[in-house]
Amino acid sequence: MTDSTPSRRVLLIVGGGVAAYKALELTRLLRKAGVGVRPILTKAGAEFVTALSLSALAEDKVYSDLFSLTDEAEMGHIELSRSADLVVVAPATADLIAKAAHGLAGDLASTALLATDKPVLMAPAMNVRMWLHPATQRNIEILKTDGALFVGPDEGAMACGEFGPGRLAEPPAIFEAIMAALEGPAAKPLAGKHALVTAGPTFEPIDPVRGITNRSSGRQGYAIAGALARLGARVTLVSGPVALATPPGVDRVDVETARDMLAACQAALPADVGVFVAAVADWRIDEVFGTKLKKEKGGPPALTFVENPDILATLAASGPRRPKLVIGFAAETNDVEAHARAKLARKGCDWIIANDVTEPGVMGGDENAVLLISRDKTERWTRAAKDSVAHDLAQRIAESLS
Ligand code: C5P
Repeated sequence: MTDSTPSRRVLLIVGGGVAAYKALELTRLLRKAGVGVRPILTKAGAEFVTALSLSALAEDKVYSDLFSLTDEAEMGHIELSRSADLVVVAPATADLIAKAAHGLAGDLASTALLATDKPVLMAPAMNVRMWLHPATQRNIEILKTDGALFVGPDEGAMACGEFGPGRLAEPPAIFEAIMAALEGPAAKPLAGKHALVTAGPTFEPIDPVRGITNRSSGRQGYAIAGALARLGARVTLVSGPVALATPPGVDRVDVETARDMLAACQAALPADVGVFVAAVADWRIDEVFGTKLKKEKGGPPALTFVENPDILATLAASGPRRPKLVIGFAAETNDVEAHARAKLARKGCDWIIANDVTEPGVMGGDENAVLLISRDKTERWTRAAKDSVAHDLAQRIAESLS
């Protein structure tokens, strides 16, 4: 049954791809669940499905033209983009994704995406090579950083005869993602909680121009900070030098050295949860040279090192100021579980997220395969995108703090 005045509304942008026919089934599922659907059909989309079908299923007018006088008189394009609770793009073509990532606004669909102040959910669909092209992957990263949500694409045989990722997610999966995105406050179990996250490498100077650092990309820590913020937490992200944008809703404090990172963490307390993902240098140069070292006759300089503070262990032992839940990370190359369990005890944390960094594509890559080790059990999580590991960890943190 459909409601006459739906309490939840979706602006559904249908792009031009063979998979556009699935947008019709999606519209039917949404209307059946009482969700209002206002469709925008792009010119390319209209090559694949008709405005008549879409309008009949949505029980609403279909908008297509940025410069339509009649449409503008009824509802201006800015209002159109804001009159919904969620903007859904299905199928999100490579072209629509690129336009949204770069803020182009040459037609109604891209203008609506630029003008909206509502969450955006994209269901990409395109040829496998277009999906895997670095330009598309860059655009996806930009949109994720801007806070866009994604469902799919699926992997499988394509209308173009190729096989791989790029198929539009099935309508029931898109429907579920829409309902989750519409849930609102119920989906914010960490509201009122403060999360402290460290991420990235540290940089320990040798002289004014040189220093010692490591290859940590910061991606897993940034993904966790973003996931915690999406669940409603106030997040302080203490970050070493990385080339990443700050996730939406996250307060970022930039530091270089381990000692600065410790000071920034202590200044951020109290926190309900501390997630220590940073790859902190174990050692720093004892005395940093005040001027640039020169290649002189005396041969290479002798550098002496001193141990850095252990930020995780220090905060785990900070008595009444200790976060209720302290989570460390362990990158191991062998005997992952045994080493990580020993680290849990040594550092005094509640959970260790352990990963085997010999697995291809984990260090600096997009995926992670982790173990969650607590005092009384070990869970082995299946290999997944770092974003997905971050989401699952944030959910577990929410359960633990509730
Ligand atoms: O001892 P190890 O470096 O393997 O421990 C890794 C865990 O400890 C990570 O959670 C890391 O962020 C944290 N750590 C820290 N301060 C250090 C060294 C590691 O917080 N000086």
